[in-house]
Amino acid sequence: MADSHSQLAGKTAIVTGAAGGIGSAIAAAFARDRMFVIGLDADPRVHSVLQPMKGVGVCGDLTDASVSQSAIDEAIGRTGRLDVVVNAAGIQKRTDAIDISDDDFDQLVAVNVSAAFRLVRQATKALSESKGSVVNIASLSADRAVPGIVPYGATKAALTQLSKGLAVELGQYGVRVNAVAPGYIETPMTADVLGQAEFRAAKLARIPLQRFADGDDVADVVTFLVSDAARYVTGVVLPVDGGYSIT
Ligand SMILES: NC(=O)c1ccc[n+]([C@@H]2O[C@H](COP(=O)([O-])OP(=O)(O)OC[C@H]3O[C@@H](n4cnc5c(N)ncnc54)[C@H](O)[C@@H]3O)[C@@H](O)[C@H]2O)c1
Repeated sequence: MADSHSQLAGKTAIVTGAAGGIGSAIAAAFARDRMFVIGLDADPRVHSVLQPMKGVGVCGDLTDASVSQSAIDEAIGRTGRLDVVVNAAGIQKRTDAIDISDDDFDQLVAVNVSAAFRLVRQATKALSESKGSVVNIASLSADRAVPGIVPYGATKAALTQLSKGLAVELGQYGVRVNAVAPGYIETPMTADVLGQAEFRAAKLARIPLQRFADGDDVADVVTFLVSDAARYVTGVVLPVDGGYSIT
């Protein structure tokens, strides 16, 4: 049997949030496996992230349907195929739930749920042709009540449920849909809280593997899920949390 990583060579992937901590690590892991990567992000640094990977950066706001469509057009236009979609773009608003503004709540839903779902919808035809797969970056906060990020957790619960439902509906086309649920990953999103010594120590005490993760820890699991090694895996939500969720 061929090595599952070598089977990724020549495939085409779209990774959203590719200028961020987790998305950039996923894009790099895919490029190392000789996939062609289209990275999408609102941050213009996406161009310089993708350039050394010989991929393509698309800079734009994913809440605009034409932006996600343009990433798909790039994939088809440049390679004639689309095999993998990873929804890693996401935002967090850290506040007590009762204090969040309507605008902030709507923005959380628009980026974390609606934009991710729309991209999958737009990509379904191409993914059906390639028998491809989707990985959504959810969160442990999808099924835990975490004070300070309750609305964020609700959007991740929605994304998790979408992943399972889409896995059921798209299975007939040979398209797999999975999610990963990261614990605490050291990225710009968590820099504030993980920079606080007390918070850091309290969380660390509950992580059996006794360290926080980096983007590569998540990227390797995503690579497994999109590879042929996971060909009979769909609809799962895989924690990548050093065991935090079992303590
Ligand atoms: N860091 C963690 O501990 C952690 C834990 C669980 C889940 N997650 C999830 O992992 C994903 C990646 O997070 P990260 O830690 O890499 O954060 P990050 O802030 O480093 O990266 C997120 C990226 O998404 C991009 N983005 C945000 N809104 C966008 C929009 N409207 N259009 C296009 N791009 C947009 C940002 O520009 C940024 O580059 C997110 O979905 C996050 O919710 C992170």
